Parts: sequence; C-alpha cells; structure tokens
Amino acid sequence: MLENTAISPQGRPVLQGETLIEARNLPRHVGIIMDGNGRWAAQRGMPRPEGHRAGSRSVRRIVRLARRIGIEALTLYAFSFQNWHRPDDEVSALMALLHDYLLSERREILDNDIRLAAVGNIDKLPEWVRFALDELCKTSASGDRMTLTLALSYGGQEEIVAAARRLAAEVAAGRMRPEDIDLGALSANIPSMRVGEPDLIIRTGGETRLSNFLLFGSAYAELYFCDRLWPDFTEKDLFAAIDSYQRRQRRFGLVLDDG
Ligand code: FPP
Repeated sequence: MLENTAISPQGRPVLQGETLIEARNLPRHVGIIMDGNGRWAAQRGMPRPEGHRAGSRSVRRIVRLARRIGIEALTLYAFSFQNWHRPDDEVSALMALLHDYLLSERREILDNDIRLAAVGNIDKLPEWVRFALDELCKTSASGDRMTLTLALSYGGQEEIVAAARRLAAEVAAGRMRPEDIDLGALSANIPSMRVGEPDLIIRTGGETRLSNFLLFGSAYAELYFCDRLWPDFTEKDLFAAIDSYQRRQRRFGLVLDDG
C-alpha cells in the first residue's frame, strides 16, 4: 500500500511525501527499462533468477500504481530479443516467472479493467507461455483503464525492419507506391506504436541508454535514468520520475513562447 499519499476526489494521488503530482500533466504512455535484477541478486549472493523474481514483485507494485494514478499506457521491457543469448537456466527462469505472473495477476488485471498486450517476436516464446499470454490478452481486450504492454522477445530495430519488410511487400505487390511510405504508414506497421508514442521512458539500474527499446516511438520521449536497481524501484521512485517529467518543457522541435 502507498504511504503518505493523498488521493484526490478523482481517485488520483496528488501527494507522495513532499512530491506533488499534478493529475493534469501526467505522461500518457510510460515505458520502463527494468534493469538491475542481476546486480541486485549478486549483491545478496543470490543466483540471478532470484533478482528477476524480486523484479517481478516490482512489476506488480508499479502496474498497480500506474493504473491508480491514471497512466493510460504502460510498456515494460520484460525480455529483449537479445536476452535469448543469456544462459539457458536464466532464460528458463524468466519464462517461468512470466508464466507465473500471467496466472497470478489474471484477476487483478481483469478486475481493474487493464488491457494486456504484447509486442515482440512472440512466436519464439515457449508454447505454454504463449498460451497463457494469448488467453489473457484476449480475455482482457475490453479493459479500458490502462493498456499494459509486455515487450517480450522484443527489439526496436527488429520491429522497424519487420515494418519495412511489410511495406516493401505491399509495394512489390503493387498495392502501394514508394511515395506512399511516410511516417503514418511506417508507424501503422510498428506494433509498439499501437498505444502511441511513449511520453516518458524510465530506465533503472544506472545505465543511460535505450538498449533497443521503443526506438521508433521514442523520438521525442522524455528520458529518465535512475540508479535504483529494478527490484528496489518503489512507488516513490515512480512519483519522482513523473515529477521530473512534469517539470520539463516539451518542445517537439519547435520554439515555444516562454512568455
Ligand atoms: C534486466 O536486468 C532485466 C531483465 C532482462 C528482465 C526483466 C524481467 C523482470 C523484471 C521479471 C519478469 C517480468 C514480468 C513481466 C513478470 P539484468 O538481469 O540485465 O540486470 P543486471 O544489469 O544487473 O545484470
């Protein structure tokens, strides 16, 4: 449960400790690169999968809070395309955790009108994970309070390559002309853009890079990096990230009148 949090009549937290959250200027779509699970485990002399297990507890906390404060779309980088190259036991542990999450959070997702979606090369996931994922995506399809997208077997470059390939096939089949390929056509073929561009991308764990996450959509995203390892990332940290976002002026390449 949240501590020191005042909830406005609209049901949105406005105060966390000393941090005031303005309900009117919330990021609509937040993406999170959940880094630092391995280091969290190493610091405790535990095997890496224990770090991921602790990380999945953070996922529960942050999904719940994002839904409560009125974030419309939350995209979590849960497994990158490149993560398949990790040791087999770590990959298996991550798949098992994902499966556990889909089963244990089913009720919470449905009861809270959350729509679950997935982006990435889902066909590469083991069938038992895919089955649970497809089922919950379908069952939660009418959820209209927040879209929770899990980026799984996901790579931003791979997603752009696949879109280019689809459009090239349309041109080759004579259904499109090369000059019809514009930003709209490209983004319509980028699955992570179904929920729109991310307004805020948070990366935990101290690194300051995007690591192939939401590359197309992040063109004008605000980036927020923090040292906290993902398993230690709390409600307070999410509030700090949103607070930082709300203090920024977004210009989208334009010159804004400060007066
Ligand atoms: C990066 O930490 C994190 C991952 C590769 C996986 C993220 C997975 C979870 C948070 C848990 C399962 C997900 C869900 C949705 C239930 P790292 O291992 O690269 O950390 P390190 O940089 O400290 O080694």
